[in-house]
Amino acid sequence: MTVTDTRALRDAFGRFATGVTVLTTREADGTPRGFTANSFTSVSLEPPLVLVCIGSNALSGPAFCAAPHFAINVLGAAQKDTATLFASRSDEKFERTDWYPGLHDLPILPGAIATLVCARHNLVEAGDHVILIGEVLETAIDDGPALGYHRGGFITI
Ligand SMILES: Cc1cc2nc3c(=O)[nH]c(=O)nc-3n(C[C@H](O)[C@H](O)[C@H](O)COP(=O)(O)O)c2cc1C
Repeated sequence: MTVTDTRALRDAFGRFATGVTVLTTREADGTPRGFTANSFTSVSLEPPLVLVCIGSNALSGPAFCAAPHFAINVLGAAQKDTATLFASRSDEKFERTDWYPGLHDLPILPGAIATLVCARHNLVEAGDHVILIGEVLETAIDDGPALGYHRGGFITI
């Protein structure tokens, strides 16, 4: 695929408006890891499955592929700064945001409009991403507008 084709593909993908999540987990030594993801998709109600696509360039990818559990924090409209922070490669993400340990000691971000705690169910290699499929163990929801992403920018839903 040429550079031009990649640009066209990105532009076409970007016309699909999504919500914004921050995925969190812990490394084996307990270090919290997290990154911003808009590839979250609900998959199945019975059993309860979700997926997220992790790019091969994500530094925290190996931690998510190895961890038995992870959490999906669905961001509220007021959490644009959190989305930007977790889309960076900063090694101080968890020093620079509020969080607390939830089920399985997973980092949970207050202000999220939904939280799903998951057990790793399957990993599927797909091009330059890995599809992480999780079985949902616990959910929590809150009210308020959602943070969205459309055409490369944040929006309020
Ligand atoms: C709105 C938005 C959505 C994103 N969605 C994804 C995604 O679904 N999967 C992914 O691997 N990276 C996604 N990214 C990019 C990662 O957040 C970015 O590569 C981040 O630096 C990864 O952090 P890490 O290197 O500490 O793992 C997204 C970025 C933004 C701004």
